[in-house]
Amino acid sequence: MMKLHFNPASPFVRAVLIVAHEVGLADQIELVPTGAVTPVDVHQGLARTNPLGKMPALITDHGHPLHDSRVICEYLAHRAGRSDLIPDEPVKRFRVLTLQSQSLGIADAAVAWRYEMVMRPEELRWQKFADRQKTRALMALDDAEANWTDLFSEVTVGTIALAAALGYLDFRLPDWSWREGRPKLAAFDAEFARRPSMAATVHTNPT
Ligand code: BEZ
Repeated sequence: MMKLHFNPASPFVRAVLIVAHEVGLADQIELVPTGAVTPVDVHQGLARTNPLGKMPALITDHGHPLHDSRVICEYLAHRAGRSDLIPDEPVKRFRVLTLQSQSLGIADAAVAWRYEMVMRPEELRWQKFADRQKTRALMALDDAEANWTDLFSEVTVGTIALAAALGYLDFRLPDWSWREGRPKLAAFDAEFARRPSMAATVHTNPT
């Protein structure tokens, strides 16, 4: 069995789990709940697999630690022989990887906003920093809406990361109302949400 350090609230963990379900490897992954991880505490169990202390972190069944979510997604797709998730054809490959980067960046910015505005003690909050994170995420969403291509109708690590990022916005930041003015993204999300891999990985708070 592989082992995955896991927090059901993390969009990065979710991207990995969606890939695992899509390629048929989910039942070969034991989920190791890390519980609530804060941005300021060292989590010893997690740090043994990823010294950066970040999730997701996977231990392969040969005992090798892998991180981050991009590497784990590639590992699972490669292991399952699913080159369609990260196509070989060069133009397509780097467009898919850039969509993945942009989507994980949206999730990164949303998590940073939340750390700043929800977790940081109120007297230490830096509003301009939080505003910048929100702008970063919204501009990346606008760009995806404006530059919509056929790429978005395929299941790849790019669209999986996008679905995970949008799911995180719905979970933690519904008042950002990301669907407003973005009908193509909203339609993408509604369609992608029908996939069993999405239903199997719905966000919950860590216990
Ligand atoms: C969250 O609780 O929102 C969260 C947890 C882990 C990683 C990112 C976000």
